[in-house]
Amino acid sequence: MELLITRARLPEREGLFRIAADKGVFTAIRPEGEAETPLPPDRFRTVIDAEERLLLPPYVESHIHLEAVLTAGDPRWNESGTLFEGIEIWAERQPFLTKADVKERALAVLKNMAAQGVLHVRTHADICDPKLTALEALLELKEEVRAWMDVQVVAFPQQGICSFPNGAELLEEALKMGADAAGAIPHYEWTREDGVESLRIMFRLAQKYDKLIDVHCDEIDDGQSRFVETLAALALRTEMRDRVTASHTTAMHAYDNAYAAKLMRLLRMSGINIVANPLVNVHLQGRFDTYPKRRGLTRIKELLAAGVNVSLGTDCISDPWYPFGTGNMLHVANMALHLAHMTARGEIPLGVAMVTENGARTLGLGDGYGIAEGRPASFIIVDGADPWELMGRMPVARHVFRKGRQIAVTHPARTELRLESSAGLIT
Ligand code: FE2
Repeated sequence: MELLITRARLPEREGLFRIAADKGVFTAIRPEGEAETPLPPDRFRTVIDAEERLLLPPYVESHIHLEAVLTAGDPRWNESGTLFEGIEIWAERQPFLTKADVKERALAVLKNMAAQGVLHVRTHADICDPKLTALEALLELKEEVRAWMDVQVVAFPQQGICSFPNGAELLEEALKMGADAAGAIPHYEWTREDGVESLRIMFRLAQKYDKLIDVHCDEIDDGQSRFVETLAALALRTEMRDRVTASHTTAMHAYDNAYAAKLMRLLRMSGINIVANPLVNVHLQGRFDTYPKRRGLTRIKELLAAGVNVSLGTDCISDPWYPFGTGNMLHVANMALHLAHMTARGEIPLGVAMVTENGARTLGLGDGYGIAEGRPASFIIVDGADPWELMGRMPVARHVFRKGRQIAVTHPARTELRLESSAGLIT
């Protein structure tokens, strides 16, 4: 047998576990000390003592723009900090994109994410480019990293489908080239009618080519931006349901409560997923407010309470929209819990869920994800014992395994304290 992990904690389960894997899949998960099936270590080629740390399925990055990463300040800095200046700067940078440029920067970020235990990534690729350079680069990269990372690519019309020359044709071409999902940006189209029409075009093409859908939806502070209701209604009527995702939906924070309550019912019925990007949206949104300033986050707490699947994304790492970013999903979840006021004892584990199992639902990973016998032995062992520690300290992933093979080990930094008091050295 290949691999045995001893003394591991599992989420939402009491006690310690012994977890075996062979040929890349989990073969046994047993409580420590169980007499009948003891899983003796001498039968395994590799044995790792988890030392009572938490073993989780890999983190899931539900939303990032890999083609733009690591370009902040090039060709100029986003001084206003708004989404719209970011889009303008990106349009200036885009003519200089090459496949090599995109792949080099995206690969650096993917490696950094894998090191931190992120093994499933949904990236958007801007297709408002007659040459489709970013899409081609990311589709190539997806194949090149397949051994250690799952990448889904969304064909994302950053400048719109109806408001950009040949927008619909570019989207269709992108889907033919192999994009996993169709995207749209209805709130950025020139008119509300164009926004609705762009969603209809996108659904028609997604159905024609049997693709997923992930829409940049209502990423604006305008409380009149209500495209998520159109998206949910189309998901329901086409029966695409959970194959559809609405990303950002920040306008929801500006909706009046009566409308939001009505909307929750439709969202739950439709089965669509919502992706929030708390780091980037707390930074981009509220830029037109004076005081009080809105937080710029969709209604995560209420959506979860209504039974809607919500997962989280980093969105940007050092690009025209956001100057920071580490690729650490616990950092993203930590910010989400702050902004959504989700610090009750029972709410803290939802932070971890939103960057693991909820993300897997958004990406449609099904039986290809999770700690269960017969599923791929992809998992991480984190330097903490429970979700509270994870959300509070944001510890590193000590071990990262992909289909039974170890792909990263992290040795934590070690600090020596050399403190003194009047009574001498403090130990
Ligand atoms: Fe985005």
